[in-house]
Amino acid sequence: MDPAELKAIVRTIPDFPKPGILFRDITTLIAHGRGFAATIDRLVDRAQMADASAVAGIEARGFIFGAAVAARLGIGFVPLRKPGKLPLDTIGIDYQLEYGDARLELDPNAIDTGEKVLLMDDLLATGGTACAAVDLLREAGAHVHHALFVIDLHELGGGEKLRAAGVTSQAIMQFGNE
Ligand code: PRP
Ligand code: MG
Repeated sequence: MDPAELKAIVRTIPDFPKPGILFRDITTLIAHGRGFAATIDRLVDRAQMADASAVAGIEARGFIFGAAVAARLGIGFVPLRKPGKLPLDTIGIDYQLEYGDARLELDPNAIDTGEKVLLMDDLLATGGTACAAVDLLREAGAHVHHALFVIDLHELGGGEKLRAAGVTSQAIMQFGNE
């Protein structure tokens, strides 16, 4: 399946979670067996180029794609978690979402100092989440130069925000406000 076919499987829901937001919903993409498999194939192709020894995925939707890619590459998966979930050592970072405050946490023991980590999430919007994730991974000693997404809402500027932080971003599909 090509990117246009995959894009057609993503469901668009107007005015969620608040008026004026066009929500790009991956539920329909991951429910589509061939579509999900083709998405992972395309992510794996791009992920190989990052030459990383681990994939870090952002809870929750980043786990779905990041874990599948890590398993296919035969490298480890590092979860970046929502607050209050980790049982032992924890470092965290607060950040702003398009609609509200948020926080990510990480067990720093999951990262080896100087380890090359590929950041993954389902969707890049403003880039607030991804940049917070990069900061947190770097605080734990990771080298983060590549980030990979299924969807880039390119008009929201997340790619530029990541580039300013020294991270190259790639996505399987782009969405504007159409
Ligand atoms: C969504 C999405 C990305 C983030 C993108 O996650 O999955 O992680 O927002 O937004 P940004 O680029 O503007 O920061 P959300 O926190 O809504 O929750 P979920 O993944 O747990 O569903
Ligand atoms: Mg998310």
